[in-house]
Amino acid sequence: MRSTTNSLVLEPATPEDVPAITELWFAAFTQPVIGKLFPNTPGMHQWHRDWHLDSFQTRPYQKYLRVVDTESKDEHGRPRLVAFGKWDLAMPDERGRRFPQWHADSPYQDCEDLITGLEAERKRVMGDQKHYYLDTLGTHPDYQRRGAGSMLVQWGCDLADKDGVAAYVDASKEGASLYQRHGFVDFSPSGAEVASMARAKKTA
Ligand SMILES: CC(C)(COP(=O)(O)OP(=O)(O)OC[C@H]1O[C@@H](n2cnc3c(N)ncnc32)[C@H](O)[C@@H]1OP(=O)(O)O)[C@@H](O)C(=O)NCCC(=O)NCCS
Repeated sequence: MRSTTNSLVLEPATPEDVPAITELWFAAFTQPVIGKLFPNTPGMHQWHRDWHLDSFQTRPYQKYLRVVDTESKDEHGRPRLVAFGKWDLAMPDERGRRFPQWHADSPYQDCEDLITGLEAERKRVMGDQKHYYLDTLGTHPDYQRRGAGSMLVQWGCDLADKDGVAAYVDASKEGASLYQRHGFVDFSPSGAEVASMARAKKTA
């Protein structure tokens, strides 16, 4: 599996990418509400790294992908990681709790309320219909609007179509139009901060 757009290349990510994925997440997710829940502190960086490493080790149904720029090198001389995505092929009850226990730097109840609300929306929209879940998508601000996000969304949509299943994402305002272009439809109640977006399974 490898797809290329100009110097941007989509590949599976590896546990060695976890530090870069974590740094990229903090660079990309600058929305105030996210910063309140996941403050940019050393403890939270460690929490993210531990979470992703644990997912690599214990959750094989969670697929981490990276987009690298082959024309730009990181501090180790490797192609720079400019975007990443995490597609979860499991249903919520197979997966269990999405996040580890919250870090002390996070406001516990606000995080619990957010995640409970997102899970309830996913259940309301998808019910028990088998679907793949776009858990996380982020492109470094230096690389946004160059098609990296689209490559990562396309990867999961192609897999969903091949496997004959639907797809779902909790979309930020920044991501909504990108998902729409890939066939996701917004099923949110009016005024929702996060869009509940689903993409129907492909019918023959
Ligand atoms: C949402 C996000 C992942 C999009 O990533 P991206 O790499 O910029 O995505 P793309 O480049 O594929 O598409 C984004 C836009 O750029 C446009 N675009 C793509 N290639 C382009 C190019 N070569 N030149 C100009 N515009 C381009 C797309 O048409 C799209 O426009 P639209 O959103 O108005 O439809 C990114 O903005 C991000 O990380 N945001 C912060 C974190 C976040 O909110 N993540 C989503 C959580 S659901």
